[in-house]
Amino acid sequence: MRAAIIGTGYVGLPTGTGFAELGNDVVCIDKLTEKIDMLNDGKITIFEEGLEELYQKNRRAGRLKFSSDIAQIEGADVVIIAVGTPTHPVTKEADLSCLFEAAEELAVYLKKYTVVALKSTVPVCTGAEVERIISKKNPSADFDLVSIPEFLREGFAVYDFFNPDRIVIGTDSARAIAVLNRLYAPFSPKTPILITTRNSAELIKYASNAFLAMKILYINEISNFCEKCGAKIEEVAKGMGLDSRIGSKFLKPGPGYGGSCFPKDTLALTKMAKRYNVSLHLTDTAIEKNEERKLDMAHRIADIMGAQSATAAILGLTYKSGTDDVRQSPAIDICKELLRLGISLRVYDPKGMQNAEEQLKDQVYYAADPYDAAANADALVILTEWDEFAELDFNRIRDLMQSAKIVDFRNILNSRQVEGFLYHRLGCGVHPCSLVNS
Ligand SMILES: NC(=O)c1ccc[n+]([C@@H]2O[C@H](COP(=O)([O-])OP(=O)(O)OC[C@H]3O[C@@H](n4cnc5c(N)ncnc54)[C@H](O)[C@@H]3O)[C@@H](O)[C@H]2O)c1
Repeated sequence: MRAAIIGTGYVGLPTGTGFAELGNDVVCIDKLTEKIDMLNDGKITIFEEGLEELYQKNRRAGRLKFSSDIAQIEGADVVIIAVGTPTHPVTKEADLSCLFEAAEELAVYLKKYTVVALKSTVPVCTGAEVERIISKKNPSADFDLVSIPEFLREGFAVYDFFNPDRIVIGTDSARAIAVLNRLYAPFSPKTPILITTRNSAELIKYASNAFLAMKILYINEISNFCEKCGAKIEEVAKGMGLDSRIGSKFLKPGPGYGGSCFPKDTLALTKMAKRYNVSLHLTDTAIEKNEERKLDMAHRIADIMGAQSATAAILGLTYKSGTDDVRQSPAIDICKELLRLGISLRVYDPKGMQNAEEQLKDQVYYAADPYDAAANADALVILTEWDEFAELDFNRIRDLMQSAKIVDFRNILNSRQVEGFLYHRLGCGVHPCSLVNS
């Protein structure tokens, strides 16, 4: 089949590459010409495990092409829109301007029956609005506007493309379903394909993300309680997760949720509901508590460090491991608060340095590696769960530091590694483990 992807970012590039790998002819389109030039030159634009190899292979095979010219969608059986839908700076709703712009631009190139599929995360009824925009611009266009929300996890985008938990197709058009069944045929019968109304498909995405965000907040709350009552969060989470109604995922305490999806999608969901005079109290509380969590983490670090003119070595800037994405990363917010409190920062991340620099500018020292970050620091603070941080030579780190303190907000270190340090982790009761070796 011929597929066109509009928006070649964290979703569009793995999606386009995945469909090319499945034997389709794919063109990935983006309005950023520099991005397209890089991709045409064989330089991948994002880090995702396993993506580069597939991208190079399919590009060389001629099944995966890149263009900044939207006219290239002409002749596609399916046009998938995966442009960004960030938080609008004023209304805090999903900003749909890029999406509407793409719909306006693509309309005139629909010259045969085409399925136009929205993969961007969009509020309920956006599909209907995009349908109107296209029909107005090109009244003779023969198309169906379908919602196919995306559930991939950054860091696992390639794995998730080939192994999705479910595929949701929101449409009542039998013709569109037939086309998408062909596109998704390689996933069947392993993956459930759920056909819903377009509105339901749009809401499934938001409802799922808000639920996961709340799960993270819940375990963080229980983790706080563990610290006071002497329980251990890992044991509590394990005991909870073995209940099949709960499940073990998203039960790790951390410095708050982040990334390009949960913060913006929880906000967009509550704003959307308000338009229907519905209050989503749990989601509202989640948003508020997550902001508090990040500030609380920064103040904990400051308290542990004591002196105002202290220096912290920050390990991890991305919102989770396996990605170079720092959008809405708790680590970045924590860094900003620490800077506001007068603490100097020496920061390191295996993949996110370049993106972090755009946010933290010249206010921090960008270290060459974790040891460089630790040099003369008063505390080592782990904010992202990169495996390599658990493999460091902690004797060397201790010798380099001014003061042997570790703050581990991802709970990735064990008691042997932190011997000789004053060690703080999340969700471990005051006695005996929150102040190991103190
Ligand atoms: N990142 C994730 O993990 C994830 C997961 C599921 C769903 N989503 C949703 O998918 C959508 C895309 O997210 P992303 O993280 O890939 O965003 P992104 O910012 O990485 O990529 C979006 C791309 O769209 C391009 N673009 C914008 N307007 C365009 C236009 N008119 N024509 C052509 N290109 C245009 C941008 O230049 C950018 O490269 C969002 O709605 C997001 O909520 C993201």
